[in-house]
Amino acid sequence: MAASTLILSALLFAAAIASGAAGPNTALDDVCALLGGYYVTPEACASALCHDPSSSPCAAARDAHAVAELAARLAAANATAARDSVRAAAAGEGAAAKKAGLLSCLQLYTGAAAALEWAAGSVAAGRYPGAREVLQAAQYVPSGCDGMAAGAAMPAENGGFDTMVTVAHAVVASLSKGY
Ligand SMILES: *[C@@H]1O[C@H](CO)[C@@H](O)[C@H](O)[C@H]1NC(C)=O
Repeated sequence: MAASTLILSALLFAAAIASGAAGPNTALDDVCALLGGYYVTPEACASALCHDPSSSPCAAARDAHAVAELAARLAAANATAARDSVRAAAAGEGAAAKKAGLLSCLQLYTGAAAALEWAAGSVAAGRYPGAREVLQAAQYVPSGCDGMAAGAAMPAENGGFDTMVTVAHAVVASLSKGY
C-alpha cells in the first residue's frame, strides 16, 4: 500500500516533468487553470492573454491581480480594434439593409469599447465589481452584431473579440468571487 502510493507519486512526478513545465508555473498559468467553470480551457486562456510569451507583458504578470489587469486591458484594446474594423466595414460598399446592421453594430461596439476602458481602469485599481458586469455584458456584442448584420460579412475582429472577452470575463469573474 505504501509502496503503491510511492509509485503513484513517482509516476505523477514524472508526468509533471514530462508535461514540459520548464520552471514553476507563472501567475497566468495558475489563473488560466481555474476557468473551467466558465468553459474556458487553460489553452484558450493562455492563447488569448499570452499569444507570444517571449515578448508580452503576460510573462511579467506577477500575481492574479496583474493577470486580471492584463485581461481587462486586452479586452478594451480588442474592442477598440473591432470597433474600428466595423466602422470601416460600414463605410464600405453594400446594400442599405446591411449597412444599417453594421451601423447598429458599430453603436454596440462604441458603447462597449468605452465601458471596457472604464472596466480596465477599475480592475487596475483593484475594483472588480462593475468591471465584471461590463465584461459580462460585452460578451453579447459579437453575437448581437452577427444577428444585426443580416448576412453581411462581419469583420474577423468580431470573432476575435468574442474569444478575448470570454476569457477576460472568466478571469475577472473567477477572481471576484465573494463580492
Ligand atoms: C483580439 O483578441 C483575439 C483573441 O485573442 C486575437 O486573435 C486578435 O488578434 C485580437 N485583435 C486585436 C486587434 O488585438
